Amino acid sequence: MPDIRSAYSDSLNFYGWHRPRALAEKYGTPLYVYNERVLRERCRDMKGLSPHPGFNVNYSVKANANPALLRIIREEGLVVDAMSPGELRMNQVAGFTPKEILYISNNNSREELQNALKHTLLVSVDSLCQLDTLGQLFPDGRVMVRFNPGIGAGHHSKVITAGKETKFGVTPDRMDEVLSLCARHRLALAGINQHIGSLFMQPQCYLEAARVLLELASTLPKDILKTLEVINFGGGFGIPYHKYDNEARLDIATLGNRLHETLCSWTDKTGYAGHFLVEPGRYIIAECGILLGAVHAVKDNGDTRYVGTDIGFNVLARPAMYDSFHDVEIYRQGNGDSSNGHMEQTIVGNICESGDILIKKRLLPVVCEGDVLGILDAGAYGFSMASTYNQRFRPAEILIAESGDVKLIRRRETAEDLLRSVDGLL
Ligand code: LLP
Repeated sequence: MPDIRSAYSDSLNFYGWHRPRALAEKYGTPLYVYNERVLRERCRDMKGLSPHPGFNVNYSVKANANPALLRIIREEGLVVDAMSPGELRMNQVAGFTPKEILYISNNNSREELQNALKHTLLVSVDSLCQLDTLGQLFPDGRVMVRFNPGIGAGHHSKVITAGKETKFGVTPDRMDEVLSLCARHRLALAGINQHIGSLFMQPQCYLEAARVLLELASTLPKDILKTLEVINFGGGFGIPYHKYDNEARLDIATLGNRLHETLCSWTDKTGYAGHFLVEPGRYIIAECGILLGAVHAVKDNGDTRYVGTDIGFNVLARPAMYDSFHDVEIYRQGNGDSSNGHMEQTIVGNICESGDILIKKRLLPVVCEGDVLGILDAGAYGFSMASTYNQRFRPAEILIAESGDVKLIRRRETAEDLLRSVDGLL
């Protein structure tokens, strides 16, 4: 058994009949590897939250917009959001129709709003100011308004998007102004939405916030509630990142049962006949992705053992940006027991900043030059937040299909890609 630490991916048969080192060798590193079976399972978990006929799942594309993955998500019957012209384009390439795309964005230029309207999308605005602008651009049209339910959640202050201090949404006490702006521009209020933040592990806050949104909907005049098409409770469903500590999963069954009961009793009471949406990003796509990287150097600086890899924060920004935890696997060449004990190590990338730290002072099997590392749960906000900082090329992405075949779903960038936007201008 040559791998030093691979019990988690082995238990899932994540790489199928392929070995991670062979994939790293063939496609190069850093390399995002996705598993189709895991992706489909996560889509089904979310679809199963509620059998209510109006219930569906709106995948939040910002977590990962690779069109090959979006196609699988579409096959599973999910719809999507878009928050920029680029995300809209990716959704179209994956085959989503305008009816299957909600434009949920903020602080848009008139041009961007017009672009979304040109594609006949339902647009969610998150301020009275943008509602007014949309009304000027699209009189007699439809609109969705994002509210702040006053309850926030998230793994870091940077990703809490509701509550007292946030740039997002309209507070429910402004509903009268929303309705009068809609009336002024003869806009139909076609939807209301919210998103409390990213990553909760207990269902309570999400359910409470959902009830707040439903109560708000109950206050709508009857004729408006009758034509309301969508009530969208947002995303934030967490995944356990501490795989090697057996961190408990979010209790999807309990969350689903309670949400379903709430939806049923509310529709019975109000006669609402529109759709309900949840809007997960991370839950759908995080766990189907492992990021492979190579160890190029190890050294002791003072008391710290540094493991130098090609996984800089240009490739995976989350640890540098939010101090996020990702578990790591270690794949080593050779046979027999090649483990040489455990020690505290700091795993870093190849970016010229001292904050380029992937894993800080963690007790792990001793990592050696030539090892390949697998960073777990890297499918969400991994590639989608990757950059070309230090003029490094963004990585390739491959998919382990259900058939077991490996498909290249994004090639590694090259210097020509970096030069494309300045070509002809020099
Ligand atoms: N809906 C809206 C309007 C959002 O802004 C987001 C995420 C979602 C849905 C999906 O949230 P999720 O289910 O993935 O938690 N980069 C951070 C997360 C930022 C989330 C931004 N908005 C991270 O890596 O943790």
